[in-house]
Amino acid sequence: MRQSSLVVVANRLPIDDSVAPDGACEWRRSPGGLVSALHPLLRQTPATWVGWAGGTGPAPALADVDGVRMHTVPLTAEDVRDHYEGFANATLWPLYHDAVEQPVYHRRWWEAYQRVNQRFAEAAAEAAEPGAVVWVQDYHLQLVPGLLRELRPDLRIGFFLHVPFPPPELFMQLPRRAELLRGMLGADLVGFQRAQAAHNFAQLVAHVLDVPADDRRISLDGREVRIGAFPVSIDTAEMAALATRPDVVARAARLRRDLGNPAHVILSVDRMDYTKGIEQRLKAYSELIADGHVKVRDTVLVQVAVPSRERVGQYQVLRDRVEREVGRINGEFGRVGEPAIHYLTQPFDRAELAALYRMADIMAVTPLRDGMNLVAKEYVAARVDDTGALLLSEFAGSAAELPEAFLVNPHDLDGLKLILMEALQADRTDLTGRMRAMRAHLSRHDIHSWARSYLAALDSSGSLLNRVVSPG
Ligand code: ADP
Ligand code: G6P
Repeated sequence: MRQSSLVVVANRLPIDDSVAPDGACEWRRSPGGLVSALHPLLRQTPATWVGWAGGTGPAPALADVDGVRMHTVPLTAEDVRDHYEGFANATLWPLYHDAVEQPVYHRRWWEAYQRVNQRFAEAAAEAAEPGAVVWVQDYHLQLVPGLLRELRPDLRIGFFLHVPFPPPELFMQLPRRAELLRGMLGADLVGFQRAQAAHNFAQLVAHVLDVPADDRRISLDGREVRIGAFPVSIDTAEMAALATRPDVVARAARLRRDLGNPAHVILSVDRMDYTKGIEQRLKAYSELIADGHVKVRDTVLVQVAVPSRERVGQYQVLRDRVEREVGRINGEFGRVGEPAIHYLTQPFDRAELAALYRMADIMAVTPLRDGMNLVAKEYVAARVDDTGALLLSEFAGSAAELPEAFLVNPHDLDGLKLILMEALQADRTDLTGRMRAMRAHLSRHDIHSWARSYLAALDSSGSLLNRVVSPG
């Protein structure tokens, strides 16, 4: 078994198996913010990624991807049901996102969560060379830092939560809250997207575990655990380069022609998730058409919603509701050859996404709650000519970094309609000023600067940092 000096541990590997048009099985990058963030980073260092390949049964042996070793963790059908679909995505996910859907609690799911976390910790322990840095990702694996420390006290362990960390009033609902907090505290550094999340965590540790904690450090069992905010980002330069490629520019023009060259194209790109505010957005858009403020001939909405977590009940209900609503709106307001909404559920490669971003005058990113939202950042990075408008929910982590966006409360339908109209009617100078400021921010705060600041805080010797990230 080859061991690495850097091991990333995440529930999902950065690739998914899918069926190619000729029927063959092929691997492609999995949609989702975590993979988008870490994938470009690891291409620069000999690292191992420990994760699940998406199926059940024995783990497939996968070849290295861009020099990164893929160490697959096998999950049984029961593990997938009770850990991934259960505790991770029907208990923690809704609870951490303001309980916009009701979190479900089952004792059997907790047992699976412990069992699967143990398996990931063992796989990480196997893959890490002596003294290695192990970077554990996200809500599926909150017990791994503690379990791994027991197995391998020589490691430097980091934990980063990509999703929001809820206020104490919500977290206190969790039947196994103390164990979850203790698991995270196995890390040397616990990172969050926002300072408020670090504050929530410190308050909970103090209250539930009765341990002195402030928003920067916690002392526990003779160790110091540091905590902090590290807003995740994207490979800004890569997206800008893609968006400037002649074939992508031509594709964007072609897409616009195919839409009938309308005056305005509004675009949304989401995983099909109830946190993304898709239903509220569709309602606002259809009311604007019904009120006569928007004409289907002039303005079209392209909604990309790639299906996600399809066996979880709340996701099935959402997909049915969204598809019914899209059908209703198109039936009521569309004309032959002129639907009001172009609805796509396919995964796209990066070049096609870049072409969509370049084509759209307005990007509507209106989640009810989102840890960061990388789609918003990708859109900004793709607007290399400083055109376009970003409509952004106040409840996305990215809103704190992009105040020049058209910020909106997605729960306020009238407000949503007003801001959408404002963005549609904004003058070019206003839009250019906003976009330029947002692009300047993202050129300084990209995925490399995120990794640099996290790893510098985790690995004070700096040796790993020099190898992992390009000079800033
Ligand atoms: P989340 O992490 O909740 O999925 P983010 O907006 O942070 O939300 O990240 C989503 C990521 O998935 C982005 O990098 C985006 O480009 C990618 N993505 C979203 N939809 C698709 C799609 N249809 N095809 C391919 N990638 C997608
Ligand atoms: C979010 C989560 C990630 C997750 C991704 C896709 O970005 O923070 O941990 O991988 O969604 O979700 P999935 O359930 O398909 O892995």
